[in-house]
Amino acid sequence: MATYDLIVLGGGPAGYNAAERAAEGGMKTLVIEGRALGGVCLNEGCIPTKTLLYSAKIYDYAKHSQEYGVSFDGAKIDHGAVVDRKGRVVKMLVGGIGATMKKLGVDVVYEKGTILGRDEQGFKVKAGDTEYAGKQLLICTGSVASVPPIPGLRESVASGFAMTNREILDMKTVPEKLVVIGGGVIGLEMASYFNSVGSNVTVIEMLDHIAGPTDREISNILLKNYKKKGINFLLGAKVTSVGDKCVNYELEGKQESAPCDCVLVSIGRRAMTEGLGLENIGVLTERGAIVTNDEGRTNVAGVWAAGDVNGKLMLAHTAYREGEVAVNNMLGKKDVVHYESIPSVIYTNPEVASVGETGESIKAKGLDAVAQSFTLKYSGRYIAENEGGDGIVKIIIDREHRNILGVHMIGNYASEIIYGAAMMVEKKMRVENVRKMVFPHPTVCEVIREGLFQM
Ligand code: NAI
Repeated sequence: MATYDLIVLGGGPAGYNAAERAAEGGMKTLVIEGRALGGVCLNEGCIPTKTLLYSAKIYDYAKHSQEYGVSFDGAKIDHGAVVDRKGRVVKMLVGGIGATMKKLGVDVVYEKGTILGRDEQGFKVKAGDTEYAGKQLLICTGSVASVPPIPGLRESVASGFAMTNREILDMKTVPEKLVVIGGGVIGLEMASYFNSVGSNVTVIEMLDHIAGPTDREISNILLKNYKKKGINFLLGAKVTSVGDKCVNYELEGKQESAPCDCVLVSIGRRAMTEGLGLENIGVLTERGAIVTNDEGRTNVAGVWAAGDVNGKLMLAHTAYREGEVAVNNMLGKKDVVHYESIPSVIYTNPEVASVGETGESIKAKGLDAVAQSFTLKYSGRYIAENEGGDGIVKIIIDREHRNILGVHMIGNYASEIIYGAAMMVEKKMRVENVRKMVFPHPTVCEVIREGLFQM
């Protein structure tokens, strides 16, 4: 039987990054991947959506070019060509990971893996007809879209009328009417794309706000922007059933129906642990997710988990870090994930990016903190490039120590700026320290520095 120092189950961002680090650290490593390297992120998540959204952004710019003294008559978007390009981008990146695995001497088996048990050779995993043994086991099997038992929903997914993030990315035509169930990250990004390319989009969200835990002042600006662009938001609405060419919902005690050509279900994801054989080695799960500590350890010595499968913070960049933290600990270099300073981004147009405490979380935790918002119009570059833009940056500091607890932005480039704010939060930087740093001019990030002078 082939034996390894490490068997990684799942080749998404947590798994492939961990495998790279393990191989660099001298571990003989095997990755078992049931579908394609890159996982959801590369194949049906982060990268494909960003490819689509970039095409939509170009199209939006063309449609609004006259505001900037430029005219493109008859700008058109070819959704089929956009989807084809997405396929090429994905293929290139997935190929790149395969090449890296090869270069580093990581073996990759394309089969679904099942944990059989443990003996003196290590943890036994079956993939296809072959059994492998690993001294250590890292589980990175990710997550799948939740499809709750709403009457008619599962049948609609089976018939293709309702889709998850996976299927909608390959849809070759633009629906005239699209209903999105769930106004979270996936729902908003896809609603943004289909709104740009001409669909009549309705978002049904059960909460009274969109974008989940995003700072409410920021999510309200996003809501205003997208209402203006023509998306219909039904907030505080409960989906009661999915019918023939419609989604039925209850709003303010009344039964209503939203007719549509297709439905996107984006109401969260659940950890992928079914059928893995976790019970054969006694790995503890909680609500279907593997329980880990901040070093990536499970309750079983030698078994680790990273990425969405731990149900903590389902983001690809969290998964990368969790994978490498687990490997560092395997190699005897103590390391932990600092969850409190992990940034998040919603790639709408305008973009939303956040890190740390929000206006709501400081109240809930009773923190003695100050939250102040600043218009991005303090930035000359923002004004030059955003006709009618209403972006802000909101900064949250600790009143006594004056260290930065949170930064939230809505406005383009926010996705590229937020890592700097994440460093401020991670390093518990004080307002006075950041004021002494020089930010490039003219940029949108200058508003953070300007804001700190007013706090
Ligand atoms: P989500 O958790 O972001 O949002 C789900 C939304 O659906 C919530 O607002 C919730 O209140 C609502 N909801 C739940 N049940 C409902 C029902 N029956 N009717 C109406 N609304 C309902 O989940 P989403 O958007 O599916 O994304 C899944 C995961 O993927 C998230 O963890 C997210 O962080 C990650 N992701 C991250 C991206 C990014 O970082 N840019 C992009 C896409 C996904």
